[in-house]
Amino acid sequence: MITGKAKIAGVMGWPVDHSKSPKLQNYWLSQYDIDGAYIPLPVDPQQLGTAVEGLKSLGFQGCNVTVPHKEKIMPFMDELSARAQKIGAVNTVIVQEDGRLKGDNTDGFGYMAHLHQSVPSWTASSGPVMVIGAGGAARAIIVALIEAGVPEIRLINRTESRAVGLAESLEGPITVIPWAEKDANLADVTLLTNTTTLGMKGQSALEIDLTLLPQTAVVYDIVYVPLVTDLLRQAQEKGCQTVDGLGMLLHQARPGFKAWFGEDPEVTAALHSYILSTDS
Ligand code: ATR
Repeated sequence: MITGKAKIAGVMGWPVDHSKSPKLQNYWLSQYDIDGAYIPLPVDPQQLGTAVEGLKSLGFQGCNVTVPHKEKIMPFMDELSARAQKIGAVNTVIVQEDGRLKGDNTDGFGYMAHLHQSVPSWTASSGPVMVIGAGGAARAIIVALIEAGVPEIRLINRTESRAVGLAESLEGPITVIPWAEKDANLADVTLLTNTTTLGMKGQSALEIDLTLLPQTAVVYDIVYVPLVTDLLRQAQEKGCQTVDGLGMLLHQARPGFKAWFGEDPEVTAALHSYILSTDS
C-alpha cells in the first residue's frame, strides 16, 4: 500500500527493462512493510542531466544507476564517496536532506559482503588472489580487495594493456600476468575471481585448468546466468568452495535501500530463490 507519504526511488538505465533491481527493492519494501516504491527509470543518454535534476525536483530519495550511465552520471553529482571516486563509476545516488546529490559505488561492497556471507572463514591476509578481467566490474572488485588488505593481486586480462592500465591507475599490490600464464600462476592462490562475461549464457566458457589451484582456495564467479558456471562446476569437482554472482547483485543493493528507506535489508536464501523465479 502506497500513501501520499511514500518514499520513492528507482533505477536509471537505457534500456532498463532487464534490471532486477525493481523486483529486489520492492521485495524488501514489502518484507519490511515500508511505505515506499522503487520504479524503473528509462533515461535516454541525451537526457541524463535533466533526469538527474528531476530526482530532486520530484522528491526522490535517490536511485540506482546502471548501463550506460554509471560513468557519465559522475559530473552531475555534488559529492562522491571515496570508493566511487576510486572506482570511477556511480551505481547509487542519494538525495541528501539538503538536496545535494551524493554518488556512491556499492559493487565492491556487494562483492565482499557476499564473499563473507558465503565463506565466513575467508580472510584477506591468507595469501595471493587472482582476478580475471579488467573491466568496470574488475575495477570495483580490485578496489575492495585492496581495501580488505590482500597481500597480492594477480591480474589477468585477454587484452593485457587494459590490465596494465588498471594496475597503474590504482595503488595496490597488483601484478599483471599474461593471459597464457594464468594456469601456471594458480599454485598458491587463495581466491580466484572471474569478472569477465565468459561463462555467461550465450558466451563461451572461461578456459582455465585448475589443476594447480589448492583445494582450500575459494572460487568466485560474478556471472549469475547460469548460477553454476563451468568454472564453478570445475572448482566444485576439485572440492573448492565456490561463490556465485547472484549474491553480489543482492548485497550491492543494500546500502541504497538503507539510505533511501532506513533499513539495512537482509539477503536470505528465500530472496535468492525469489529473484531467480521468472514468474513474478
Ligand atoms: P564490465 O564493466 O561488466 O566489467 P567490460 O568493461 O566490458 O564489462 O569488461 C568485460 C571483461 O570481460 C573484460 O575484461 C574483457 O576482456 P578485454 O578487456 O580483453 O575485452 C573480458 N572479456 C569479454 N569477452 C571475452 C572473451 N571472449 N575472452 C576473454 N575475455 C573476455
